[in-house]
Amino acid sequence: MAGTGTLTPPLFVALATYASWMVLFLFGHLRDFYRKKIYGGRAVKKGAEGYAPIRQDYEDFYTRRMYYRIHDAFNRPICSAPDAWVDVMERTPVDGQKPLQVTGRTKRCLNLGSYNYLGFAAQDPYCTPRVEEALDKLGWAAASSRADAGTTPVHAELERLIAQFLGKEDAITCGMGFATNSAFIPLLAGKGTLVVSDALNHSSIVAGVRGSGAKVKVFDHNDPAHLEAVLRSAIAEGQPRTGRPWKKIVIIIEGIYSMEGEMVKLKEIVELKKRYKCYLYLDEAHSIGALGAGGRGVCEQLGVDTADVDIMMGTFTKSFGSCGGYIAGDRGLIQYLRCHCPAHLYATAMSPPAVEQVISALHVIQGLDGSDRGKRKIQQLHANSNYFRRGLLELGFDVLGDWDSPVMPVMLFNPAKLPGVSRYTLERGLAIVVVGFPATPLLTTRMRVCISAAHSRADLDYALEVFKTLRDRHHLHYCDPETASRHIKAFEAHTNLISA
Ligand SMILES: Cc1ncc(COP(=O)(O)O)c(C=O)c1O
Ligand SMILES: *[C@@H]1O[C@H](CO)[C@@H](O)[C@H](O)[C@H]1NC(C)=O
Repeated sequence: MAGTGTLTPPLFVALATYASWMVLFLFGHLRDFYRKKIYGGRAVKKGAEGYAPIRQDYEDFYTRRMYYRIHDAFNRPICSAPDAWVDVMERTPVDGQKPLQVTGRTKRCLNLGSYNYLGFAAQDPYCTPRVEEALDKLGWAAASSRADAGTTPVHAELERLIAQFLGKEDAITCGMGFATNSAFIPLLAGKGTLVVSDALNHSSIVAGVRGSGAKVKVFDHNDPAHLEAVLRSAIAEGQPRTGRPWKKIVIIIEGIYSMEGEMVKLKEIVELKKRYKCYLYLDEAHSIGALGAGGRGVCEQLGVDTADVDIMMGTFTKSFGSCGGYIAGDRGLIQYLRCHCPAHLYATAMSPPAVEQVISALHVIQGLDGSDRGKRKIQQLHANSNYFRRGLLELGFDVLGDWDSPVMPVMLFNPAKLPGVSRYTLERGLAIVVVGFPATPLLTTRMRVCISAAHSRADLDYALEVFKTLRDRHHLHYCDPETASRHIKAFEAHTNLISA
């Protein structure tokens, strides 16, 4: 597998992890059993007389026995801009009530949790004044859909800019990144379409494909050889029952996988797409702005012509520090989406100041602000990411993902480590997201570090110092020194090659 880490735990860790789940499962069910015996049916709350329960997860085992025991590790509120440092609100249980209540106190933490890759999510000397001006001139709300009265000059300008940035003929924007996938995919796939999707697809892609009525086949995560096998057998077999040829085949992939930190093997997949005449849909939510020397995403990073990607999707919510998403492609395709997509016709347009934020960020990234700040931000992001990844490897952490990727999942494997890791890092002033089942498979509980161009070297050094203690406290030494130094050497050889 590419990348600097592995999702496979050492055997002992795997056994210990299963043992942890087993204990949770056994004791949970034993307690449920006694609860039922002692309190009878009364312990289990029912819906009102005659009504079916409205919640489908009613009395869900995982929620009761796991989530609520450690829920201080999740949904932590913040009360500042998600800059390099962030104010995390302290919470405490009140009379055994759920959820936790905020105390009014805050803790200043180094922010390793936000998708603020280029540092545009906080005040910016170029963007912020322009956003304020847009607010004065155009107001907060578009108060109408794009197809009615919601198209302002900034909306048109953003679509022009993003298409130009990606080397595509045209682009369409949408007020929400998630909805860009969930509402636009159904217009690109339908009955008789085969969608071939990476196994680690984002939930917005799943929502879009489910809504499309297309048939789905899954290929192993980032594995072009398996993708080819899936394509070959799908083309040979044709549609189910009738055996008729598929109307079209759409391959859906992501630029950076947000839970793995890996870049897609785009070159190999483009080869396949051409050989088997499939369309390629690329979701660049995490890679746009963050990858490539000019921030143009995974195509620029890996040297792939954007002409080879039919549908380029991305969001403005990470590198651009705003909200919404886009689809860029051929003029005809985008025109078709404008005429037919319900999210364009019937949903309120993006808020104009949010649009202006993206435009300004795009200006800075491309140097249209008359400075080299954008270029330096991207360089800083890559330097910071590689510095931190290297530091984590040297400390012996199992870090997933690729060099230059700002997303760094760090494996914990055992869910029993999750609350301790989360509490300790918060206590030491690091804000980090932890992820476990059901968001990941049972065996691959992890925390996820997101690096920003806004972090200073001193910030990263402080975080590494905390990680060192964390490793010893929670026994997170999962990568042996030889493997770590092999990854670091490979990276050094690669960078020397580029700079030579
Ligand atoms: C791959 C991918 N696609 C789409 C989205 C949804 O974007 P948004 O958060 O802007 O709604 C995300 C969000 O995190 C994502 O990771
Ligand atoms: C997404 O991935 C899951 C897990 O690999 C798979 O079961 C599902 O069919 C995929 N769905 C879509 C729509 O891509």
